[in-house]
Amino acid sequence: MITNKKILITGGAGFIGSNLCEYFLKKNNKVICLDNFSTGHKHNIQIFLQSENFLLIEGDIRDLETCRKAVDNVDYVLHQAALGSVPRSITDPITSNDVNVSGFLNMLVAARDANVKRFIYAASSSTYGDSESLPKIEDVIGKPLSPYAITKYVNELYADVFSKTYGLETIGLRYFNVFGRNQDPNGAYAAVIPKFVKQFINLESPVINGDGNYSRDFTYIDNVIQMNELAMFVDDQQAVNTVYNTACGDRTTLNDLVKYLKRYLSEYNDKISKVDVVYGPNRMGDIPHSLASVEKAKKMLGYNPKYRLEDGLRESVKWYWENLK
Ligand SMILES: NC(=O)c1ccc[n+]([C@@H]2O[C@H](COP(=O)([O-])OP(=O)(O)OC[C@H]3O[C@@H](n4cnc5c(N)ncnc54)[C@H](O)[C@@H]3O)[C@@H](O)[C@H]2O)c1
Repeated sequence: MITNKKILITGGAGFIGSNLCEYFLKKNNKVICLDNFSTGHKHNIQIFLQSENFLLIEGDIRDLETCRKAVDNVDYVLHQAALGSVPRSITDPITSNDVNVSGFLNMLVAARDANVKRFIYAASSSTYGDSESLPKIEDVIGKPLSPYAITKYVNELYADVFSKTYGLETIGLRYFNVFGRNQDPNGAYAAVIPKFVKQFINLESPVINGDGNYSRDFTYIDNVIQMNELAMFVDDQQAVNTVYNTACGDRTTLNDLVKYLKRYLSEYNDKISKVDVVYGPNRMGDIPHSLASVEKAKKMLGYNPKYRLEDGLRESVKWYWENLK
């Protein structure tokens, strides 16, 4: 268990970052959150502001001096700050690149110069691109299908070069469709689970892009927290300076996802069982199928995903029911 450390969580006001802040604060660490609130929210971290172990730096990773200030005396960096969403990057590739690549490089430089113990960063399953092989194995990737995917792949390349050139310890966690409490259901770029949950709660019909047979390896947030902690903890040098799939290891179609959501939400309001979904065109840049092999993480880090999709969905649905209404 990681305790009594100083941890910088960039993007700490976002979905994944705020969950990491909560977890590591509970384990008696000092947590610094660097966020510019572009997609994150104050309400995600409001409660931590009362803790003397929590420091908020409101700032932008595109500014190197801000990054340097944030990493001062830090043991670990958990770098989550980025502009997510494939469609957002298709609409505005320049801003996605500035934040996700230039901002990432700033953080690497700052972490290197501050001699942090390890730099752990949010990589992405989008790096598998057009590779059709399933399950996805870390070494077999295809060509990126979106500007967002390029940025996340470039992150891995930079991290690798910083490890080899400057000796900075890095670990990339390729997140696969993460979901859970604090994930934003609002806005044009909302992820599918929170968006559909909110629509069902409002008795509105969600729109599935395509015929609903596209599949994803949906990963509950607590599995992601576990992976971050294992990546900080691991001692074996063979396990460092590499990337890991961070997933559940199960594949679920959008049609099945909707079935689960309706089933669990109907326990709160049975009218939801009567809400139908609507089918629309496929979305540009979307990978048809995504399923991770988590063998490398199991072997090298001792990963054991505790939450299967259905358990995570139940927890999430409960959280949204209590917090959205
Ligand atoms: N959620 C997923 O399924 C998923 C999948 C793959 C990878 N990821 C990656 O995980 C990370 C976290 O994603 P999330 O789902 O929590 O998204 P999020 O949008 O909720 O969180 C991102 C946070 O970064 C902050 N941020 C953005 N630009 C910034 C900047 N220039 N300076 C400082 N802070 C900035 C935002 O305000 C936000 O709080 C991202 O790097 C994302 O690309 C997420």
